[in-house]
Amino acid sequence: MTGLTALVTGATSGIGRAAAIQLAAQGARVIVHGRDADRGAQVLDDIAAAGGTGRFVAADLSQTLELVDFPEAVGEAMDILVNNAGRSWFGPSDALGTTPFDGLFATNVRTVFWLTTSFAKAMARRGSGSIVNVSSMAGTIGLASGVAYGGTKQAVVGMTRSFAAEFGPQGVRVNAVAPGPVYTSADPARTDALGKTTLLGRAAQPEEIARVIGFVASPAASYITGAVIPVDGGRTAV
Ligand SMILES: NC(=O)c1ccc[n+]([C@@H]2O[C@H](COP(=O)([O-])OP(=O)(O)OC[C@H]3O[C@@H](n4cnc5c(N)ncnc54)[C@H](OP(=O)(O)O)[C@@H]3O)[C@@H](O)[C@H]2O)c1
Repeated sequence: MTGLTALVTGATSGIGRAAAIQLAAQGARVIVHGRDADRGAQVLDDIAAAGGTGRFVAADLSQTLELVDFPEAVGEAMDILVNNAGRSWFGPSDALGTTPFDGLFATNVRTVFWLTTSFAKAMARRGSGSIVNVSSMAGTIGLASGVAYGGTKQAVVGMTRSFAAEFGPQGVRVNAVAPGPVYTSADPARTDALGKTTLLGRAAQPEEIARVIGFVASPAASYITGAVIPVDGGRTAV
């Protein structure tokens, strides 16, 4: 992927951080996005240690003005976009108020729509590009405590397929990766418990998701578009 530039949203932590380091190790120059500049600098150090290069761009993508301005703040066309930034909320539906509900959809859904729309245009003009959206197993199966979160991730699946249809004829591939439970910022006890429900009986490390993102983003996956790839230890297989 030497000569390609990749933007990874939510790359200051968890799956996004691992994906940024993975893409850098594959040769891409990586734009690391997040809100926390200190953690952004740390990820750039990790990328440099892996022999890669990149820079950091901050934005709170749940905020309308910051989202709208973000492509201009990035300031260059991308070969690869990984729409990873997101957050979850689990609990009984009647405990989730309208403001947190809107916040979930703003962060997990509107961001994917806006950034894909913005960056895919330039990819389409150049006739190539790869976009990887991070969905979730909650976008495939129902989780009793994850009605709103699952709704956001099912929306990501739907947008992935529709964007693939919109931009495929211009050479832009759009896919989703749907992780199962991953050890990131969430409560490890909850991640452990969810991991036990998978066929492999464990949760994943972020790097296990990042390697799949790195493949789907790369020219090695040149005939894959509109796909939603489960990386969930078999949780959604049976
Ligand atoms: N962990 C899992 O078990 C799991 C399973 C399936 C799917 N996923 C999905 O994988 C993605 C990454 O999750 P993770 O577990 O790696 O999360 P994480 O460790 O909590 O990291 C989330 C990242 O997203 C960024 N972010 C969150 N809200 C943002 C906002 N409003 N504006 C800009 N950036 C924002 C954070 O940036 P700052 O910290 O710098 O603010 C951070 O870099 C999410 O889309 C999540 O839904 C996770």
